[in-house]
Amino acid sequence: MRTPVVFDLIAGARPNFMKIAPIIDALTRIGAAGSTPGLQRDPGGLRYRLIHTGQHYDRKMSGEFFEQLGIPEPEINLEVGSGTQAEQTAAIMTRYEKVLMNQRSDLCLVVGDVTSTMACAIVAKKMGVRVAHVEGGIRSGDLSMPEEINRMVTDSITDFFFTTSETANHNLRRSGVAEDRIFFVGNTMIDTLMKQMPRLRPPPFWEHRGLKPGQYFVLTLHRPANVDEITQLKAMLDAVIEGTRGLPVVFPVHPRTRKQLDSSSITGNHSSLFCVDPLGYLEFNFLVQQAKAVITDSGGITEESTVMHVPCLTLRDNTERPETITLGTNELIGTHPARLKPALDTLFAGNWKKGSIPPLWDGRAAERIVQHLRTIFFKAET
Ligand code: UD1
Repeated sequence: MRTPVVFDLIAGARPNFMKIAPIIDALTRIGAAGSTPGLQRDPGGLRYRLIHTGQHYDRKMSGEFFEQLGIPEPEINLEVGSGTQAEQTAAIMTRYEKVLMNQRSDLCLVVGDVTSTMACAIVAKKMGVRVAHVEGGIRSGDLSMPEEINRMVTDSITDFFFTTSETANHNLRRSGVAEDRIFFVGNTMIDTLMKQMPRLRPPPFWEHRGLKPGQYFVLTLHRPANVDEITQLKAMLDAVIEGTRGLPVVFPVHPRTRKQLDSSSITGNHSSLFCVDPLGYLEFNFLVQQAKAVITDSGGITEESTVMHVPCLTLRDNTERPETITLGTNELIGTHPARLKPALDTLFAGNWKKGSIPPLWDGRAAERIVQHLRTIFFKAET
């Protein structure tokens, strides 16, 4: 009889949920197939605890994603809520430490680059619990972004790296990580997209806004560099409105950006700019799939638009996902509003690149992760 293995799956903020969902699916499938019978019930196999840190807590930023993606109720919710990054980090660390003191786990699996990722990795490692990082190794080189610091800290104490790209593998090797700790598995965010593709559905306003495939834009903005200075935010919105030539621009507004808009004289109102609350996964990706193009400062959306072959204009000066540019449909436009119009002119002229899908972004990344986890845990016996 095997000694039971308990490991933690950490999810905290919106971009984590689509990365964790397929891992749970893959665990369940293997359990159902009998190779790891019963999972959570099986005394001799893999058992996981899903831990939600509560970094994102609004229904629209969290609950709806759990429902739409079929993620089970978390076993533990640390309920940290809002705060500065230091406050959130401290609260997550204190509360996760208590969880581990109550019941130790054999591994802590974190995904992505948010505050929850770094905070839980630190706690686990300090308590002698091994750390696995899904989406390890990616780097923007831009330390003004909290996510880059989270990536560097997390990767410096990670035992097992599950990577999305050759660039990530290269970054890890260059920093001295041994080959046998790097597992190039593909992209779990794309696993979710591929699974959910048939279920994507129009948001409720699709009809009455008269949106037509290929004849509107999707805009998302939430990075401090674009939204924390009100003059920059206004200049960017003006540039978007001007460059999109009167086509509708659907703008699901992130809470951080909403606070800025509400506290300023910018209403976000314009006949072609349509501000809406954050959308569910199925509605948001339907909008992306049918859009003429996406204008964004997100990282994950550049991956999704690449896979859906939708042009993507990124309002950042750098990216940790260079394959979305070299292979995909993404271009870095920068944070200077004046650079948007020439790029949109290229798009309207029909000259945007078509792009291809990066290696191993095939919907099976989570399956590979679970296979590797089994090898890691049960190596001695197999
Ligand atoms: C976080 C991630 C970022 C990711 C983004 C996606 C970090 C460092 N950043 O940034 O990488 O792209 O999520 O959304 O982890 N808020 C709500 N309701 C919520 C969640 C947040 O109102 O459910 C408010 C918070 O009070 C805060 C603001 O939104 O004022 C920002 O939330 P926070 O978790 O600090 O970081 P994000 O900017 O969302």
